[in-house]
Amino acid sequence: MLLVLLVTGLYLVLVYRVGDPAGSVARMAADPWLGSWNRSLHRYASDLFVLAAVFHGFRMFAQRRSWGARSLAWVSGVSLVGVGLVCAWTGFVMVWDGFGLRLARAGGRLLDALPILSEPVSRIFAGDAPIASAFFFVNLFLHILLPLSMGVGLWLHVSRLARPVLLPPRRVTWALIAGLTLTAIVLPAPLGPAADPLILATDTTLNLVTSWWVPLVERLPPGVSWAASLAVLALVLAIPRLTRQPREGVHAPSHVDPQLCTGCNQCPQDCPWDAITMVPRTDDRPTLVALVDASRCVSCGICAGSCPPMGVGPPGRTGRDQLTRLWEGETTATPRRPAVLCCGQAPAAHRDALAAHGADVRLVPCVGNVHSSVVELLLRSGVPGVMVAGCPPRDCVGREGPKWLHARMYLDREAELQARVDRRRVGTITLAPGALPEALAAWDAFVAALPAVERAGALRPDDMILEAECLPDPAGVQP
Ligand code: HEM
Ligand code: SF4
Ligand code: SF4
Repeated sequence: MLLVLLVTGLYLVLVYRVGDPAGSVARMAADPWLGSWNRSLHRYASDLFVLAAVFHGFRMFAQRRSWGARSLAWVSGVSLVGVGLVCAWTGFVMVWDGFGLRLARAGGRLLDALPILSEPVSRIFAGDAPIASAFFFVNLFLHILLPLSMGVGLWLHVSRLARPVLLPPRRVTWALIAGLTLTAIVLPAPLGPAADPLILATDTTLNLVTSWWVPLVERLPPGVSWAASLAVLALVLAIPRLTRQPREGVHAPSHVDPQLCTGCNQCPQDCPWDAITMVPRTDDRPTLVALVDASRCVSCGICAGSCPPMGVGPPGRTGRDQLTRLWEGETTATPRRPAVLCCGQAPAAHRDALAAHGADVRLVPCVGNVHSSVVELLLRSGVPGVMVAGCPPRDCVGREGPKWLHARMYLDREAELQARVDRRRVGTITLAPGALPEALAAWDAFVAALPAVERAGALRPDDMILEAECLPDPAGVQP
């Protein structure tokens, strides 16, 4: 939506005249070829932008992604919405119809309550003198400057993320643009008669997305409006602090075992929060060693699945921890049913449905945490087949869990599922809301094909050896 606003805004700014704001917009609205739908598209995109940003903020809150290393994203996100609302305000004033005047008056009322301007702003709209072009020029200047500052805000917003995904899927992008353009052609944005300061217009049609606050500001004393706005802002900005969790247990930051780290440089590439760097070692081994910056780590556990020697991950969740736990459980667990390693974020109804279809459901914090050796060990211990069930790739709280899982299982990304593992006994499914029947059908087909696959010999306890292969050799020979 920001890109749509930018492109349509470039056209609008060429046609807009600060000397004749209402007239130039009326001419635009009367031009069916370019002006009318461009203006309407700009208007509708601004509504959708605010709605999408607020929805995205609520989603982050609901997924508990609002504190710790994500605080900067939270605070800058709130600022982006705030700047977006002010930008919409200046945009409506530019139109200078009855609604534009009403917004300008509401703004003047608020500004006059602050002891910053020597002359009351509201006097500009008293109607005793024509409104100077300078007012419209300053308004236009703000309307262009604010989006530029949003560019900086957006950069800050994603500055702590590796590989931020800035665009929706291509099909969604084009469907949205086509839908909005069609709406703009069929239902052009309303345009009232040119503003007349001598007419007190309070019955203009409100834009409920970006200007819902206007009736409040008109009715409340300005001091109360300011106090209420600041209180809401303070509350929203305090959410990172209010939702903060102790950095222990499931929220403990990842750590590296330098003895195990071979310096392969894989975990820094897989970490979705750029929390790992390679630094010189303090011992005399010739490689670099991975180091986790705890202040950037969100404990997603993706690095645990990325490390071939299983030397990194949040406490209790490294590949070695996963294997050890699995092995301890496996010695007693019988009989063997096909297993699903299921993301703990998946809807409970999906997990129950898989269990009802005969799956031995085992919850994991995120499929991106699963070390490929866990899949292999399960199969070698006699489980007939292993399905890994994750969230839709764009809906992973660990951001990149399903992506790296797929690459490790099928594309030989480092810490890959070994070639010796029979791929017919391994699968992945996505548990998306509304797509349970497809997931169950994929599971049933997977299970139905298993009897035809020859089962490998069962593991004996001695087969599972977590070699300390990276420990320095006692004789002083580098491993
Ligand atoms: C102005 C509109 C906004 C835009 C364009 C925007 C865009 C984005 C993008 C592209 C990402 C990265 C997504 C990914 O690759 O995983 C992101 C992450 C994030 N956004 Fe926004 N955002 C906006 C507003 C907000 C608001 C209002 C909030 C909350 C109040 C918010 C909170 C967050 C948080 C916490 C993350 C980090 C997620 C994580 O680290 O797991 N954003 N945003
Ligand atoms: S748990 Fe690992 S992958 Fe996740 S943020 Fe921390 S260091 Fe990065
Ligand atoms: S993936 Fe493992 S071995 Fe490779 S750099 Fe990270 S901690 Fe070291």
